[in-house]
Amino acid sequence: MSDAFPLPRRQDAVVDFLAHRRSNLAKAMDDPGPDADTLEAILRIGTRVPDHRKLSPWRLIVYQGEARAVFGRTLEAAYRADNPDHPEDRHRFEAERFLRAPVVIAVISAPVDCVRGTPVWEQQLSAGSVCLKLCLAAQAHGFGAQWLSEWYAYDPRIHAEMGLAEGEQVAGFIYIGTATQAATPRPRPDLSDVVTHV
Ligand SMILES: Cc1cc2nc3c(=O)[nH]c(=O)nc-3n(C[C@H](O)[C@H](O)[C@H](O)COP(=O)(O)O)c2cc1C
Repeated sequence: MSDAFPLPRRQDAVVDFLAHRRSNLAKAMDDPGPDADTLEAILRIGTRVPDHRKLSPWRLIVYQGEARAVFGRTLEAAYRADNPDHPEDRHRFEAERFLRAPVVIAVISAPVDCVRGTPVWEQQLSAGSVCLKLCLAAQAHGFGAQWLSEWYAYDPRIHAEMGLAEGEQVAGFIYIGTATQAATPRPRPDLSDVVTHV
């Protein structure tokens, strides 16, 4: 019988990638983004995540091209309504948020009714896994990636524009593009502060 999935083996390049990768800043991304085939590969890898009972309790919205500017107009309108006195360049910043990167993927946590017994928390964790896996997949293909929420992940007006249903939440906006700046080091916790060996 052939083994579709061989036993785990050491893969030094993958270990090195995982040990050293860092997020890239959305504001330091540029064209080109992934082409259609590469984006599909990133989406395929990104949605291959732990998912208790195979519920796929998430969905993705991909923003590219003009759709990014359209979304920006919604952001600007909401921001302007809340901050009418802010300077015009601040409003423009909101309008151009999605234009920072050639591709932005909204990962929506969409928990399935719990009749089948998977706690909502576990389903939300699965959505978080999609976010990280998208970042890893994009970076493994040579692109910069950053997982952001920012204010608009939590704004009901933006949720309405995105078509979020009751119970759905934005797990993250994954910005993907060509990184124009090397990432700087980020302090990490001491293992002894976060790990207990028993
Ligand atoms: C749910 C979630 C939301 C985040 N939102 C933001 C954000 O709005 N702004 C920000 O600067 N970083 C945000 N981050 C942090 C970055 O995505 C990232 O974790 C950080 O830059 C370090 O990542 P790295 O370990 O991949 O380098 C968020 C992280 C998570 C998990």
